[in-house]
Amino acid sequence: MDFQWYPGHMTKARRAMQEDIKLVDMVIEVIDARIPISSRNPDIDELGKNKFRLVLLNKADLADDQKNRAWQNWFQQKGIAVVMTDARTKNGMKQIQNTILEVCKEKIERDRRRGIKNRPIRAMVVGIPNVGKSTFINSFAGRSCAKTGNKPGVTRGNQWIRLNKNVELLDTPGILWPKFEDQIVGLHLAFIGSMKDDILNQEEVAVELLHFLQEAYPEALAERYQMEKAQLTEAAPLDILQHIAQLRGCLLKAGELDTKKAAALCLDDFRAGRIGRISVEMPEE
Ligand code: G4P
Repeated sequence: MDFQWYPGHMTKARRAMQEDIKLVDMVIEVIDARIPISSRNPDIDELGKNKFRLVLLNKADLADDQKNRAWQNWFQQKGIAVVMTDARTKNGMKQIQNTILEVCKEKIERDRRRGIKNRPIRAMVVGIPNVGKSTFINSFAGRSCAKTGNKPGVTRGNQWIRLNKNVELLDTPGILWPKFEDQIVGLHLAFIGSMKDDILNQEEVAVELLHFLQEAYPEALAERYQMEKAQLTEAAPLDILQHIAQLRGCLLKAGELDTKKAAALCLDDFRAGRIGRISVEMPEE
């Protein structure tokens, strides 16, 4: 499979971010807790140097709790502040407020020494598409202000949302592009639905996903698709896809199994968390 992205958008988004980042003290980087490596663009280290930093492991509700904690430790060991969030249900929002003050305490202290009072910390949210940036801004600010599904090139308002006397947030998130260093990154983004499905061969993606689940989460997979564990261990991933087609009645007119439909179904199950809370990437990788 060949994964591609669109360099035109990428350049525009990068330029916009370079401008916006000058306006802030702090960068809040949103990544997907299921794929913390692939949903991160390491360029942010360069773009956000000299800024206070906070990483949000968002969609933590869909990821493996044990792995979430391992990732949290991993970031902390690197000296990066991190909070697990579920932007949809607002889990983790309170903790963020305290963490921001903790991360920026140097600036707050400096301002205090200079006699500057009540100058709020200015922050911006950044991340690759679909990690939950807009949902987070809306949840954090407590009202509907960020345009969800924002696209590069859309008129930028650049308004400040005053969260309280200490923090102001830029209303438009900065968009980073995923970094395709290898095909695995593309594949993992495809698993979670961050690549347009119409440019993908869904059957191939589903077969790769089933292969991963068979190794890493056999119990959850067996349970979801009513298989015996022994049967699952011996099956080739394509056999499992055929089993799913049979189980869910995915049939073509001629009575053949519709594995394409089964693939879409299986990817949908995974993305909605119906197979379980699953982390695709582990810190040791
Ligand atoms: P973006 O700005 O980074 O591009 O992402 P956006 O907020 O538009 O969120 C992308 C999708 O991810 C949305 O779902 C959103 O509801 C979902 N989402 C965001 N944060 C979380 C989270 O912490 N947990 C879970 N489970 N989902 C989250 P959608 O299906 O595209 O839209 P909708 O049907 O929810 O409106």
